[in-house]
Amino acid sequence: MTEAAENKIPYQSDYWNEAGGQRWLRNLERVEVMLAPIGDAMLARAAAKSGESVLDVGCGGGKLAARVAASVAPRGSVLGVDVSVMLIERAQRDYGATPCLTFRLADAGKDNLGSGAFDLVCSRFGIMFFADPPAAFANIARALNPAGRIVFVCWQDKERNPWMYGPAGAAFEHIPAPPPPGPEDPGPFCFADPERVRRILGGAGLRHIAFEPITGLMQMGAVDDALDFVSTMGPTAQPLADAEPGPRANALAAMRKVLVAHDTATGVQMHYATWLVSAARQ
Ligand SMILES: C[S@@+](CC[C@H](N)C(=O)[O-])C[C@H]1O[C@@H](n2cnc3c(N)ncnc32)[C@H](O)[C@@H]1O
Repeated sequence: MTEAAENKIPYQSDYWNEAGGQRWLRNLERVEVMLAPIGDAMLARAAAKSGESVLDVGCGGGKLAARVAASVAPRGSVLGVDVSVMLIERAQRDYGATPCLTFRLADAGKDNLGSGAFDLVCSRFGIMFFADPPAAFANIARALNPAGRIVFVCWQDKERNPWMYGPAGAAFEHIPAPPPPGPEDPGPFCFADPERVRRILGGAGLRHIAFEPITGLMQMGAVDDALDFVSTMGPTAQPLADAEPGPRANALAAMRKVLVAHDTATGVQMHYATWLVSAARQ
């Protein structure tokens, strides 16, 4: 067992240490491509400078953290934290030798991240899974130095993200949909409401809270590839795995139809919408 596995955090991290982490890993190469423009927008807003100390919350496979490390090198540092053993191990494997970059298994919502240790906290979709968001953001804000800033991206509501819910809606005509999470339950859409995010960040002592919509067309690849993606990630992954063969085949056919309707000369394209959120300690 690796050191990371021995230290596995027995907490809300179950999803990312089990099915969630496995699904993310299975689709890692494609999510890195699909989410790259959103990461680019976040990195442009974050503007990490040479010599800065940066925390990447929920760093996943570590690719973005490695890009930030290149920006702060040679005297700066980046710490990528993630609650998932398998993702930290993958990040370590792929990017562990990157100068100025370290990875650590940690729950950013409650573990001590170092008081005033960072000039910048950034996260691409890694901050939406906290059991207690006000406490988690207070913990993260404590890790910022007094002049520090935070920049992250989260999804807008699911109606503005048909790339996730268009194919799923078609599938759920044929297989049972899971009970919908409450709007504030941890998950991809729990920070869709800027007022909620403003309250949480403000309560953590952060100021100058700003929201910038980052929207576009998700590049989902060829139809077969896109179908493999939407059937192994996101809202339909588990219901499809649980379904009987007949309904499963019907659901897949219905999803394919949606994807074909959005196929273009360069592959399937469907709309996404995120918030690029920034704030500062002072
Ligand atoms: C949607 S993935 C995003 C991964 C990566 N930031 C990216 O954009 O490729 C969410 C990540 O957040 C991590 N995560 C969830 N809750 C966390 C927590 N409380 N502390 C640290 N990481 C967490 C998950 O394990 C997962 O790697």
